[in-house]
Amino acid sequence: MISTKLGSTGSVLLALTISASAQAPPGEGPALGTNRTTQADITGGGMTLLDIRKAGLKIFATPFNKLDGYGDGPENLADTTSPGGRPTLQNNGTFLRVNGLDAQNCQECHSVGSNATVPFTFAIGGVGGSNNNAIFQPTEIDVDDTLALGHSFFNGRYINPPFLFGSGGVELLGKEMTADLQVQKALAMSAPGTSVPLVSKGVSFGTISFSSVGVQDSTGIEGVDDDLVVKPFGRKGDNATVRQFDIGALQFHMGMQPSEAVGAGIDGDGDGVVDEILIGELSALHIFGTNLERPKAEVLTGAARLGSRIFRQIGCSGCHVPNLTTLTTNLTYSQPEIHDDPLANVFYAADLAAGPAGFATTLGGGIKVPLFSDLKRHDMGLGLKETFGHPLDDQFVTARLWGIADTAPYMHDGRATTLTEAILLHGGEALAVRNSFDALSDIHKIAVLTFLRTLRTPTHPAQDLL
Ligand code: HEC
Ligand code: HEC
Repeated sequence: MISTKLGSTGSVLLALTISASAQAPPGEGPALGTNRTTQADITGGGMTLLDIRKAGLKIFATPFNKLDGYGDGPENLADTTSPGGRPTLQNNGTFLRVNGLDAQNCQECHSVGSNATVPFTFAIGGVGGSNNNAIFQPTEIDVDDTLALGHSFFNGRYINPPFLFGSGGVELLGKEMTADLQVQKALAMSAPGTSVPLVSKGVSFGTISFSSVGVQDSTGIEGVDDDLVVKPFGRKGDNATVRQFDIGALQFHMGMQPSEAVGAGIDGDGDGVVDEILIGELSALHIFGTNLERPKAEVLTGAARLGSRIFRQIGCSGCHVPNLTTLTTNLTYSQPEIHDDPLANVFYAADLAAGPAGFATTLGGGIKVPLFSDLKRHDMGLGLKETFGHPLDDQFVTARLWGIADTAPYMHDGRATTLTEAILLHGGEALAVRNSFDALSDIHKIAVLTFLRTLRTPTHPAQDLL
């Protein structure tokens, strides 16, 4: 992709870059400035967690300009849906909206702490409203129904931004679950012909077996990719870590190319700027994002307590598992990451109990993550199915319900404006449980909603960074 777009060698590009930055108009410069965080700054021990989180917030909230490397190079007709040569609106060379180039910084979309207040409460790392939905990789948007389907048609993904609160606990759970599944896979490999159950933290991911010649039989695997890497991030459950997600977010939304993805000194999108996001800056962004405060639950009384019982009784908790626990309080950070080997290449660790994330500890020395999810993908039925043309179109990772009181609109595309709409939209594997909710008496329905409204977002996340 890089070579076809640029048709050039690294050294020529470097020369271009130097001349491009030399041509910054008088009084203008990159919004990031010259004080950049390197990986050595972080691994050298000279920065506290607070310093690193501040450096991460800078990447999260700086409105990147073209001197930082915002945007792509010239349009690439061979691939108009991906970073590096996407078209722009009215060919204005800056913003499109469809297929990204849709914001100058992360905070634009992740900024609502609570939608339950009027006006809404601002928060660093919050959710986005429907106007912040990402419009991901359509090749066809048929608004006036030339396809004669009786409705407009869109073949990309239309996705509403979730919050980043508590993601450190979620990432740690995912890593520990991955480690468990990898051990079970090794066990199956060493005993060809035996079907080994895949279970971690009480969540079943089906079974795995190997043939006598060592071929993996994946037909019994459920709710996780065949690589057995648990991927909590993205509504599809397609990213193992926040770092992996952040790389894609920088590229998709802003055409900011992290050196970790495109290579140091390489101009990945042909816009004349290299090292748009340094490895150290990506690390700071990752550490910032995984040390945001966790959502909080209010004390359950009366109807809420009854609602929480009904939530379990009718089977909501089969997928929305109220609480998962970890073995340790320490989230480790790796560079580069090897997703099926979560403890490879560790360069940093953060204590999620003592730090700002503030998770409660277990007697076993881990943390409690009250996320209301099994971190597993489920078939949600035809009603919610996407039109991306992907085998997983009807599957989503169980949405985490912590904070749900504050995060309307709901579901992957934000189509539900109330909790009741969200619940009644459940289909597929969740259809029977949805019908049980629908059959509840009004008093019991109200109790479930009252319970869900005790699940709150953190009040002032990241205030210590301002
Ligand atoms: C145009 C709006 C928009 C912008 C700008 C944006 N995001 Fe997001 N973000 C989203 C959407 C939509 C999702 C859900 C994506 C999905 O489900 O695949 C998301 C999901 C995420 C997630 C995964 C959360 C989870 O729990 O699954 C992370 C982490 C994240 N964004 C980080 C960032 C970072 C870092 C930036 C800046 C580089 C950024 N986002 C910029 C809209 C945005
Ligand atoms: C088979 C697994 C499963 C069961 C059972 C289930 N859910 Fe869900 N739930 C999901 C998935 C997956 C999503 C995300 C769907 C999407 O994004 O389109 C979701 C989304 C939600 C949301 C919206 C979350 C958000 O942030 O958008 C709410 C609220 C919710 N579920 C409540 C419930 C309640 C209440 C019950 C019981 C009546 C229930 N769910 C049963 C899997 C399940």
